[in-house]
Amino acid sequence: MPAQAIDPSAYLQAGRELTDRLLEKYLPPVSSEPKSLHEALHYSVMAGGKRLRPQLALAAYEYCGGSVKSEELPIHYAMAALEMVHTYSLIHDDLPCMDDDDLRRGQPTCHKKFGEAIAVLAGDALHDIAFELMARTGRTEPVTELARAIGTAGMLGGQTADIEAEGRQVTEEEITEIHRRKTGALIRCAVRVGAILADAPAELLSRLTIFGEKVGLAFQVIDDILDIEGDQKLMGKKVGSDSKNLKATYPGIVGMPQARRTAQQLIDEAIAVFDEGDDNALKLIALFIGQRQS
Ligand code: IPE
Ligand code: IPE
Ligand code: MG
Ligand code: MG
Ligand code: MG
Repeated sequence: MPAQAIDPSAYLQAGRELTDRLLEKYLPPVSSEPKSLHEALHYSVMAGGKRLRPQLALAAYEYCGGSVKSEELPIHYAMAALEMVHTYSLIHDDLPCMDDDDLRRGQPTCHKKFGEAIAVLAGDALHDIAFELMARTGRTEPVTELARAIGTAGMLGGQTADIEAEGRQVTEEEITEIHRRKTGALIRCAVRVGAILADAPAELLSRLTIFGEKVGLAFQVIDDILDIEGDQKLMGKKVGSDSKNLKATYPGIVGMPQARRTAQQLIDEAIAVFDEGDDNALKLIALFIGQRQS
């Protein structure tokens, strides 16, 4: 779909609603045992959120010619899997032993509501359901892509480095690497999985990979900016978490004006993978990420 033909907010809302339907469908019902754990999964997953990773996967899939004739296709399993993994990462990121945050998606964090043990288990459960869903695509590549993106070379490596950088002087190169891994890797993965499920040719896949890398890094630079100057009501999480934890952040290292310029430059570079006039939903989502206030 050409971006000009789309109203951005209507498009993003439709994508959020589709993702919500998929998540409701693939989460274990709250009425089934273990009820307390299933309740925690629903609480954290269905609390809202922008659903950008599933939407990036779908947009990449459609850009590469994938068709969406029903809501029960491999791309839909992958969309739900990506959001479940993302929510798992948020639940664990908020734990007292990590960032120790008490507000997420506009409500008390999972451990505040259900206790730490259930929060750890809820994260683990979402991880497991996500891999089962990826396997339901019937293909091995999306499973491998996800495992690598969130493993020690990706998200977990980034989260480790993020914790170990607390209270320490960090260079711009180091913070870029932390952000690339802790947040960028899953966003890159979302784009790649969408393209792979549409059988994108190698050249297109590598172009979209660059897009995913740039958007993914921009996403965390902007998250750091919003942690300083965002609006808690819009974001549904507290501002000032990074300074409370003495985190290494992009604006903390290069200054706010340079952080803003870098974020914009990354978005510009991301959309530059598309030809002039090639307006599409991936571009629309990248532009939204560049301007997001939540
Ligand atoms: C927040 O992600 C955590 C980061 C990786 C920066 P989002 O900003 O996508 O959070 P939700 O899903 O919209 O709540
Ligand atoms: C989170 O980064 C990255 C992951 C969850 C993997 P942050 O710690 O900055 O995310 P927020 O600000 O708590 O959402
Ligand atoms: Mg964190
Ligand atoms: Mg955090
Ligand atoms: Mg943050």
